[in-house]
Amino acid sequence: MTIALSPGSFDPFHNGHLEVVERASLLFDEVIVASLRNPQKAEPLFPIEERELMLAESLAHVKNVRIVAMSGLVVDLARELGATVIVKGLRAVSDFEAELQMAQMNRQLSGIETLFIPTGAQHAYIASRLIREVARYGGDVSSMVPEPVNRRLKGLTK
Ligand code: PNS
Repeated sequence: MTIALSPGSFDPFHNGHLEVVERASLLFDEVIVASLRNPQKAEPLFPIEERELMLAESLAHVKNVRIVAMSGLVVDLARELGATVIVKGLRAVSDFEAELQMAQMNRQLSGIETLFIPTGAQHAYIASRLIREVARYGGDVSSMVPEPVNRRLKGLTK
C-alpha cells in the first residue's frame, strides 16, 4: 500500500489544490492531505480547524483521501503516517525553485521522494494569496475555489 502526503497551508484550499489531490488519488492507495499549523506565520485568514473542515467538505467525494492537521516537519509527519511520497503541485516555473529546494531538503532529511504534479493550465494563475486578497474586497472567486470554501469566503464580507 503506497501512501502519499500532500502538505500545504491551504489558506484557503482552491481548485488548483483540488485538481492535484484528485489526480494524486488516482496514483496512490491513500492520499493524506495535511494542513499546516504554523505559529511563526502571520495570522492566517482561516483558523486551522476551519481549514480542515473546508478540506473535508471539498474532498468528500474522493474516497481514498484523509485530512490531518500538521505542525513541525513534513518528513516527521510522513514517517509517522507511513507515507513514502510527498506530492506537490507546480503551477509555473516560478514555483519550481522553492519546491525543488524543499524536495531536496526533505529527501536529504528522510529519503522520502517528492512527486510534482503540474496543475492544468486553467488553474495556473490561482494562488491562495490572491484568493484571500480578492475575497477580502468582496470579489467573486466562485470559479476558483470549491463551494464550501466560497461559502465561507462570502461570509467574511457580510
Ligand atoms: O501551501 P504552502 O504554504 O506553500 O505550503 C508550504 C509547506 C507547508 C509545504 C511548507 O512550509 C512545509 O513543508 N512546512 C512544514 C515544515 C517543514 O517541513 N519544513 C521543511 C521544508 S524543506
